[in-house]
Amino acid sequence: MDIDARGWSHRRVFVHDTRLPHVLEPACYHEPSWHERELAAVFRPGWQCVATLDELPREGDYVTRELLGVPLLLRRAGGQVRAFRNVCAHRFAALCSAPKGRAASLRCPYHGWTYADDGALTHIPDPGSFASPPGKPALIGRVKLTAVEVACAGQLVFVSLAKQPPPLAQWLGARTHALATRLFSTDYQRVLARSIEHPCNWKIPIENVLETYHVAELHSSWLARHPRLVPVFGEPSAEQHEHELGDGFSEYRDSMGAGFAPYRALVRALVGDTACHYQHHHAFPNLVVAHTPVLSFLQVVTPTGPQSSRSMIRLYLHRGAPPRAWTAPLRSTIGAAASWFLNGVLREDAAIYPAVQTGVQGSERSGVLGAKEERVWAFQRWLADQLAVTTP
Ligand code: FES
Ligand SMILES: [Fe+2]
Repeated sequence: MDIDARGWSHRRVFVHDTRLPHVLEPACYHEPSWHERELAAVFRPGWQCVATLDELPREGDYVTRELLGVPLLLRRAGGQVRAFRNVCAHRFAALCSAPKGRAASLRCPYHGWTYADDGALTHIPDPGSFASPPGKPALIGRVKLTAVEVACAGQLVFVSLAKQPPPLAQWLGARTHALATRLFSTDYQRVLARSIEHPCNWKIPIENVLETYHVAELHSSWLARHPRLVPVFGEPSAEQHEHELGDGFSEYRDSMGAGFAPYRALVRALVGDTACHYQHHHAFPNLVVAHTPVLSFLQVVTPTGPQSSRSMIRLYLHRGAPPRAWTAPLRSTIGAAASWFLNGVLREDAAIYPAVQTGVQGSERSGVLGAKEERVWAFQRWLADQLAVTTP
């Protein structure tokens, strides 16, 4: 094993033989001061995926979001998606309060100030009462909504709260950017969209999806109830999977379903002769994408406080290669079945998070990671590195 001083493996596959230290102390999962350091170091400077283009198909379509305490309005106008702080320049009312909708113009519901598609103030009711004092410029022509940077990878819409963020591809890294662009291209159709509020620190859901060690215990009843799915989703042997640790990401790959003829036939019917595989990619800190030949999954876990977080969940199904009308019922069934499966797994995972949160707040000592949890270890190392913390 070739490991440098910071612990990064130079080999394509990184596999540990022994247990690993739990790099982050329990306080990192609940203390406001640590939370604030995370926001400053890894969240505010970068990009966060907050929506998808298929949520904004027509002119005037909008969605509202909250990101790191900032209310956002994303709206399609002039063929592009623009984002603003969802705050009127007059006396701070939200321009749009619904989670989604369509607005032909941006008109504040409080006193009626109106803004152009680019956020410029265009109309003030009773303009005489806002006449400029001598030497001061007029409000119209000067005042704008506060714009927020927007960039897309495939159908994924990212925003940045930074004034001058790096290009999205640079922030994500070439590997993650290419993967997101491909897995969420218009070849895929959304079949599930959810937002889940977690009463726990954002790292708890992230670390949960970085290991399959919990599957046998936490999902034991699910596996017992659905034994026919075990050949597809059961844990592979050590020889059948691999981990990769890259610059800013870790990845898990196996050949899920390759040995299960009905699954292979289903894949072939939809996308032709494609090797069965499963790829699970974690772009540090909080973007997770997973992929099979026909499904693409997205989970973004964003902090909403030191002890709370939110998951943005999306599931996309391939439209077929080539698209064929006769596969429509099959695709519909797969979309429904995959959503049902995913919702069940998410529910079981989410049920354990409050118990972990209670534990980190009550623990005086650090935990420990097993060799199967090396992606958790790698993530913790990365985060500690970003926050300039000396790690064990
Ligand atoms: S707060 Fe928007 S018009 Fe007054
Ligand atoms: Fe799980």
